Amino acid sequence: MATFSDRIERIRISGIREVFEAAGDDAINLGIGQPDFPTPEHARQAAVDAIEDGMADAYTANKGTASLREAIAEKHRADQGIDLDPANVIATAGGSEALHIALEAHVSAGEEVIVPDPGFVSYDALTKLAGGDPVPVGLREDLTIDPAAVEAAITDDTAAFVVNSPGNPTGAVSSAADVRAFARIADEHDVLCISDEVYEYTVFEGDHRSPVEFTDRDNVVVVNSASKLFSMTGWRLGWVYGSPDRIDRMLRVHQYAQACASAPAQYAAEAALRGDRGVVEEMTDSFERRRDILLDGLADAGIECPTPHGAFYAMPRVPDGFVTECLDRGVIVVPGEAFGEGGRGAARISYATDVDDLREAIDVMAEAHAAAR
Ligand SMILES: Cc1ncc(COP(=O)(O)O)c(C=O)c1O
Repeated sequence: MATFSDRIERIRISGIREVFEAAGDDAINLGIGQPDFPTPEHARQAAVDAIEDGMADAYTANKGTASLREAIAEKHRADQGIDLDPANVIATAGGSEALHIALEAHVSAGEEVIVPDPGFVSYDALTKLAGGDPVPVGLREDLTIDPAAVEAAITDDTAAFVVNSPGNPTGAVSSAADVRAFARIADEHDVLCISDEVYEYTVFEGDHRSPVEFTDRDNVVVVNSASKLFSMTGWRLGWVYGSPDRIDRMLRVHQYAQACASAPAQYAAEAALRGDRGVVEEMTDSFERRRDILLDGLADAGIECPTPHGAFYAMPRVPDGFVTECLDRGVIVVPGEAFGEGGRGAARISYATDVDDLREAIDVMAEAHAAAR
């Protein structure tokens, strides 16, 4: 009888899917983690052109095409003010694969990875797949991760800590002071900081900052992706960058697991990076308007919610039974505990949805809240 690896038996399919499956077909879905905008036309067209010109038929270089990696390097030079060599970039199958190769390349069996709790589901699962042990760290009242809590959790066995600003499931944005502290902690303790910045462009107040701007050593690896920056979740194109040694190790995983990112998607992402960014501004403005509608509605319903400053998620505190009461009334929200024990007593609402649906869902959530109390 075939058996399964110990590693695979430590993880299961994310609880988010269970919620979707429990809902009716016509439910309003506030559970989906993707922008509700089409991919920019120039990105789509670049993929079509590449396919028609026969440029997307073959493997690309393992790290991705030189021109995509140059476009990525230019983006980070402009946005983070860093001197990024395209040789130190790997194009991946989304931010998901970037996280996977980062953890696989840096975590040995039994080593610890500090992760935000609640936090994006992949951090815990990919740590376990790498044979490591996730160490969840709770968040502040405003749902940011406290550098002091990260530092206190470091032991001799710590391989890495993961930070994620703007955050999923929280929408929280770390301050420049906190981000600077993450870099200091990585430098002083000589542990890797994996900075997941896939929501980088969706910040409403303040600026996105990256630990890579502040580090004095080579202990920061940055994960990013076209998925949320340019509304390209279906294209599966992300990237990771770091020092040459780290890229060399991550490439070993990427080469054997993936060979290279999908060629049409590489051309599309390059066009998105180089093309008109009007759509990015449009998306951010639109998410901000919807965030305000949601926050007003939750406040009117007496539902307490820390103000999210980025991404398109809010994480209000909710009574037991709230998620089920919402589901029974045809609105899908995700229970906070799907993102870790620290999420218990909260729910994640994705407001990347049509405004009329959002308003209807707010009324339903008010009723569900009253019923669950
Ligand atoms: C925080 C965070 N990181 C990474 C990802 C992975 O995104 P993708 O693989 O679509 O680039 C997601 C997707 O929801 C996310 O929320």
